[in-house]
Amino acid sequence: MPERTLRASVTALGVDWQQRPLRPEPGLAALLAQPALSEGDKATVVQALGAELVDVCLAHGYHSMDLVVLHPDTPGLDEALARFDLPHTHADDEVRYIVDGAGLFGFFDAEGREHSMRVGPGDYLRVPAGAEHRFTLTSARRIKALRLFSDTAGWVAQYTARVADPMEVLE
Ligand SMILES: [Fe+2]
Repeated sequence: MPERTLRASVTALGVDWQQRPLRPEPGLAALLAQPALSEGDKATVVQALGAELVDVCLAHGYHSMDLVVLHPDTPGLDEALARFDLPHTHADDEVRYIVDGAGLFGFFDAEGREHSMRVGPGDYLRVPAGAEHRFTLTSARRIKALRLFSDTAGWVAQYTARVADPMEVLE
């Protein structure tokens, strides 16, 4: 699907999809190039890049932020991906700012059609509460993303009854 058509489709579903290019920051590129990060390194990344999202925090009341890091050696990665791949909604907005790696979001419209979009560094997404979607990684199985929350529950999904084949894993 041409990007303009895809953008129109996901926008119609209430998804805010923006490009916010990563600001070059000394030392940050070297941290992001590592597959795994210590908790201290994650905090460094949140501190360095969180300021880029102050406007959306203020606009939507997000008051906590963390960095999710997935890579091929993440314990339980297959189980996590199996959960993310099932169509679901959240009671809170799902807000992600991709800072490394890649992934694939699928959004379902009222007719049950799935609109899939690949995301990578600099993509900012706000999936509104209640919007049905799912997610997987690309074949590199690696992503780093800032997550913004307006509550402290973290990732809680309500699975929908939709039966769907697993998402196609892209390069
Ligand atoms: Fe989700």
